[in-house]
Amino acid sequence: MSHPVKTHISGTAHGFREDYKKLGGASSSRRSFLGVLLGAGASGVGALLSVPLLRFLLHPLVRAKAQVSWKEIGSVEELASVTSPVKKLVKVEQRDGWRRIVSEKAVYVYRDSNGHLCALSSVCPHLGCSIAWHDDKNKFICPCHNGQFAADGKLLGGPPPRGMDQLKSKVEGGKLVVHYQTFKQLVPIKEVIA
Ligand code: FES
Repeated sequence: MSHPVKTHISGTAHGFREDYKKLGGASSSRRSFLGVLLGAGASGVGALLSVPLLRFLLHPLVRAKAQVSWKEIGSVEELASVTSPVKKLVKVEQRDGWRRIVSEKAVYVYRDSNGHLCALSSVCPHLGCSIAWHDDKNKFICPCHNGQFAADGKLLGGPPPRGMDQLKSKVEGGKLVVHYQTFKQLVPIKEVIA
């Protein structure tokens, strides 16, 4: 009398094992599918994150190539009265690695022998002090080591190895604009640094 019951129980256990195996197989393939999906997702996210990171790392290099900025000095009308050098300030953006530094730089506007407005950097080509125009002496004098320059920036005397650095300038829309640059010190020929 107990035999059919035993068979029934055995059959149920077998069926359960088979079901379990099937379920286990399905679960295993589901797990591997999820694994592939997660892997692909992680790769996608990694790729997406790497784009801004690469842009961040390459930013100064890309920027250095693109950065040619002209700074406005003033209207030609306003500068019409310039006979001797006049000091003007321009806002300059510089990059030190990944740091952005905005500072004001002094430039001198003067009129050349043809009557054109020109601009000079006020940074001394000797050791980088700020050169000042002296109206009473009709020349530029560097306060650090007494470097002296004519109104057009030509070297008159002192330790500087060359005259004051000319900045590229042009008139655009009635305004005088300059391309502010920095130059290597202690060398006789002007060399652009930035
Ligand atoms: S820094 Fe100007 S003369 Fe030396």
